Amino acid sequence: MDNVFIAIDGIDGCGKTTQVAMLKTFMDEIGLPTVTVYDPGTTPMGLSLRKILLDKDIPLNATAQALLFTASRAALAAEVWDLMRTHSVIADRWVTSTLAYQGSMLGVGIDRVLAAHNTFVHTDPAVIIVLDVPYEVAGARLDTDEAKKDRFESKSPGWHKGLAEVFRGLSRSLNRRLPVRRINADHNPDIVHREIVMTLIAHCPPFATAVADRYMEQRAVEANNKSIS
Ligand SMILES: Nc1ncnc2c1ncn2[C@@H]1O[C@H](COP(=O)(O)OP(=O)(O)OP(=O)(O)O)[C@@H](O)[C@H]1O
Ligand SMILES: [Mg+2]
Repeated sequence: MDNVFIAIDGIDGCGKTTQVAMLKTFMDEIGLPTVTVYDPGTTPMGLSLRKILLDKDIPLNATAQALLFTASRAALAAEVWDLMRTHSVIADRWVTSTLAYQGSMLGVGIDRVLAAHNTFVHTDPAVIIVLDVPYEVAGARLDTDEAKKDRFESKSPGWHKGLAEVFRGLSRSLNRRLPVRRINADHNPDIVHREIVMTLIAHCPPFATAVADRYMEQRAVEANNKSIS
């Protein structure tokens, strides 16, 4: 069985972590043993960079942010490559976040972020799912305590509105340079999960094969049980 690498991305509070966990359970069940990673983070180095990147009290210009996110992702991608010898992998965020936050919102440029990514990050997901939720809906799900908000969460409502629009347009603006699939995630978690599964069946052949194989196995077990009883 081929192992697969999938990423789930989108604005703060859109439901990434919830959906990563649900998808992991599903993939384990269809015979794709799966580990999850989050970007930036996961490794000790990634966690240290994450602290710097998210700490609003450490001034960091947009270019430095883009490069540090890319550096962290390059290390994580090498880790993912190793993990994929034995497991499928789901990442919570990927380059689409850097494209949206630093590339577009902070003006570094989509092409420059993508150039750095393509130069230094050597493993990419087969599909990047972008969860599209209105920024007001996503914002209402999050903690409102200002003191706890990170560098990006603490930005203005206008920023969050713009960010949601940028994410919404990424699958179009990337023009097939990355396998980004946007789904409407303004539904309850089970419906969003179903949409993700449908998207992966359509756009990730090893995932579709695993679903079909699991179905055939279950039918064989049921037929066997019937013949015994
Ligand atoms: N489809 C949904 N409908 C309603 N509430 C949801 C849905 N998905 C997740 N939630 C809830 O919204 C909150 C944020 O969800 P989650 O942590 O999965 O989002 P996230 O995108 O990972 O956020 P962050 O960017 O802050 O890590 C959680 O309390 C979660 O239980
Ligand atoms: Mg999360």
